[in-house]
Amino acid sequence: MAIRLGDTAPDFTAPTTEGEISFHSWLGDSWGVLFSHPKDFTPVCTTELGRAAALKEAFASRNTKIIGVSVDSVEDHHAWAGDIERTQGHALNFPLVGDPDRTVATLYDMIHPNADNTLTVRSVFVIAPDKTVKLTLTYPASTGRNFDELLRVIDSLQLTAHKQLATPADWKAGDDVIVAPSVSDDEARERFGDFTAHTSYLRTIPASKA
Ligand code: BEZ
Repeated sequence: MAIRLGDTAPDFTAPTTEGEISFHSWLGDSWGVLFSHPKDFTPVCTTELGRAAALKEAFASRNTKIIGVSVDSVEDHHAWAGDIERTQGHALNFPLVGDPDRTVATLYDMIHPNADNTLTVRSVFVIAPDKTVKLTLTYPASTGRNFDELLRVIDSLQLTAHKQLATPADWKAGDDVIVAPSVSDDEARERFGDFTAHTSYLRTIPASKA
């Protein structure tokens, strides 16, 4: 069954390039990004894993761990890792789940048979420290994902989780943010000082007050 926002991310124990991982314990109190790629030794996937490795510290600075998965074996992942480092300039520095029996792919509904009967699509799940799913994305095999967008979404999700703030269309870190409708005007003044009321329901504050 499809995983929806707010659902608890399914737990699993699986072999990875960094040894066996029990997913929920491995996440601990961190945020997590679980993302699938269709197949090892393929071009778009090679660029994606290099990019994710390059951004590992950017994720870590947001208290976020990243983990990849495909229906290839851990042995294949290790064999492929050299190509990722050589061609992308970044060595694999986060775990890749080996899922040849499709346990994780099935749990997370990552195989979309009408797109491809055997390979995972490019799924992304962003998971909060309470293990609830906060974002899902599905991309086709031929389109590499934008990992900067994942960082942007995590910044937004964390503003919501920690400060009851929301973010407008095309928001970037540093832009004005929106006071969530669940916060009253009085509470908004108390928490953020003044705010700009564009309408009764669209209220913004500068990033510096967030
Ligand atoms: C790729 O990563 O380039 C790819 C993987 C599976 C199918 C098509 C493309």
